[in-house]
Amino acid sequence: MLFLRKKFHKKLQILIAIALVLSWTLTMFWIAKAFKQRLTYEDALIKVSPTHSSPSDFRIIDKSKINVGQTLRGENRLNEYGRNGIKDATQPRRFSDIIKEFNISLYKDTSADRFHINVNKTHNISVNREVIDTRPAECASVKYNILLLPRASIVIPVYNEPWSTLERLINSVLKHSPRSLIHEIMIIDDQSDLEHLGAPLDKYVEQFDFMHLYRSKERLGTMKSRMFGTKKAEAEVIVFLDSHTEVNSGWLEPILYEISVNKTAIVQPSIDVIDAQTFEYRKYFDNNRRGHFRWNMGYHFVPLHPKQQAEVIANPTKAFDTPAIVGCAFAVNRKYFTDIGGLDTDMRTWGGEDVELSIRVWLCGGSMKISPCSHVAHIFKAGHPFKMDYSDLVYNNRRTAELWLGNYKKYFYYFSAGFAKPPDPSDKFDIMDPVKEKFKCKDFGWFLRNVFPELEVPPAGSEYFGNLRNSVSGQCFGLANSAVLLSHPLITTAECYFYYQVKNFALLENGRLMVEGKCVKVEKGFLVVAPCSTRIGKWSLKDKKLMYAEGSQCAMQVPKEVKNEKLQVIGLVSCNKTDNTSEWEIATKIFKGS
Ligand SMILES: *[C@@H]1O[C@H](CO)[C@@H](O)[C@H](O)[C@H]1NC(C)=O
Ligand SMILES: *[C@@H]1O[C@H](CO)[C@@H](O)[C@H](O)[C@H]1NC(C)=O
Ligand SMILES: *[C@@H]1O[C@H](CO)[C@@H](O)[C@H](O)[C@H]1NC(C)=O
Ligand SMILES: *[C@@H]1O[C@H](CO)[C@@H](O)[C@H](O)[C@H]1NC(C)=O
Ligand SMILES: *[C@@H]1O[C@H](CO)[C@@H](O)[C@H](O)[C@H]1NC(C)=O
Ligand SMILES: *[C@@H]1O[C@H](CO)[C@@H](O)[C@H](O)[C@H]1NC(C)=O
Repeated sequence: MLFLRKKFHKKLQILIAIALVLSWTLTMFWIAKAFKQRLTYEDALIKVSPTHSSPSDFRIIDKSKINVGQTLRGENRLNEYGRNGIKDATQPRRFSDIIKEFNISLYKDTSADRFHINVNKTHNISVNREVIDTRPAECASVKYNILLLPRASIVIPVYNEPWSTLERLINSVLKHSPRSLIHEIMIIDDQSDLEHLGAPLDKYVEQFDFMHLYRSKERLGTMKSRMFGTKKAEAEVIVFLDSHTEVNSGWLEPILYEISVNKTAIVQPSIDVIDAQTFEYRKYFDNNRRGHFRWNMGYHFVPLHPKQQAEVIANPTKAFDTPAIVGCAFAVNRKYFTDIGGLDTDMRTWGGEDVELSIRVWLCGGSMKISPCSHVAHIFKAGHPFKMDYSDLVYNNRRTAELWLGNYKKYFYYFSAGFAKPPDPSDKFDIMDPVKEKFKCKDFGWFLRNVFPELEVPPAGSEYFGNLRNSVSGQCFGLANSAVLLSHPLITTAECYFYYQVKNFALLENGRLMVEGKCVKVEKGFLVVAPCSTRIGKWSLKDKKLMYAEGSQCAMQVPKEVKNEKLQVIGLVSCNKTDNTSEWEIATKIFKGS
């Protein structure tokens, strides 16, 4: 009996254990599911529609009048820091006051040659200024559930930054970020030698318990400084900011939000401009901009393509894809960033790391995004406050090409002819091999097909490849498919900046002038695009003249009315050496195929 009861007991115990495990698993599954659901794009947002919210929630928004989003967010977040973050529970002391206490003149170092900005001007503008809110009006109707957002370590590498630009950045971060979202602000001093960045900076930083100053033992440069910060950072997300940036209202929540939705997204705020001379804060361009790069791996800003613009208009608060980001401000999940290889620390001093990271993340399964509701301004300087050899930038770009371009890297060398030497056998480009293996990264052809079809591959036999820009009008060769002469589209001109309106033209060794697989032909004295045939005449480019048929006739921009539409088209005229309206330059890098 006893034995049986024991046996029965044992069975019961097992049953109870199984039931417990089952219900625990179910509960966990349910929790995980619920949690997962909360993090879908829409659900983690508290959508506030102006017409349905109660008046106590926020005032009715007149978009033309309000400072976007202001009514939804803390009016003066600096106060939050005053209560919680500052050790002696008072407002922080100004950096400039501390510097003066050390008997250092605020105007000690102001040389324009050294800083490439108007230092006296920035010193003379409030470090606590209000700037225009540059976000789209729609951002006001998005309220982020702060409790669901990950916290940030803000990493700011500093090298010889004037005191006022640095203090203005820190003040803007304190003013525009909820205290609960900032785990720490980390200043990485990369061997600055300006006096105010010595003991006065220590004293300034000491005031905040969430601010840390690290000083590097050797000159690290941008990439290593950021990776140094990455190693020390503790929060779930790292936000990198250049020391000469300034953040705007509500800048932090949208980028943290995008990362909470997808940990493999690296998110850049929309970049505004601070004028290096007047320090005026302004939007860069009305159309949201994204990041492109050319075959030389050089980054440039471009406006959104109309197709993507339509997407953004339909969903104006959601981050959109970009082939590349620029390094001056971006946010990334810390663990993902480390797993995916961080930044290429074999790169030198400055530049190119952002394009390398962008290509890598796309190829290895992540994505690069720009958030329209997060705005950070960057001081666009004419030069660097440090010694920088152009060859270092070429070296960095060459690393990108060698690491990721595969069969396409010959184009990097074609477009960098005269700058970039092919690598030595001793050069190593294996730093990302473990990442390539772990993430089963795709090849560059995939990137061209799926992410960046705008980066065109020059046709075989190209001697020159790029935009053809008129020296006087500054406009580029484009193609208006609707303007047709006889049966072929006319070549028209458009602003070169609108990359989707202008085209890359290839001048081949055999004299063909090609665009998108077709040939440029002359019809009734005008340039049209037609299928290539043997009867196509030959072109050449000499002394900026685009010449046809052995050089008696030249291409010139002329007005023409087609079906009641006034267009600028390209006509053929007798060549005139002194007339510069018929001069054309390859606006993008000249391609010299071999
Ligand atoms: C600054 O100068 C004042 C007056 O000359 C002096 O009393 C003070 O000790 C100096 N402070 C420092 C930090 O050198
Ligand atoms: C900036 O102002 C200081 C003090 O007024 C002056 O000594 C210095 O020459 C000025 N620097 C420049 C670049 O104008
Ligand atoms: C600062 O600005 C004021 C006017 O706003 C001007 O009088 C003064 O000369 C400026 N100082 C410097 C050093 O530029
Ligand atoms: C995150 O983004 C990547 C790249 O766009 C995508 O493949 C992946 O499915 C996304 N993950 C989630 C959870 O949405
Ligand atoms: C073109 O020539 C005119 C006069 O011949 C001159 O004033 C102008 O600066 C030139 N433009 C360019 C872009 O060379
Ligand atoms: C060549 O161009 C110049 C400057 O536009 C003009 O003055 C001259 O008349 C032109 N010559 C001919 C032969 O058209």
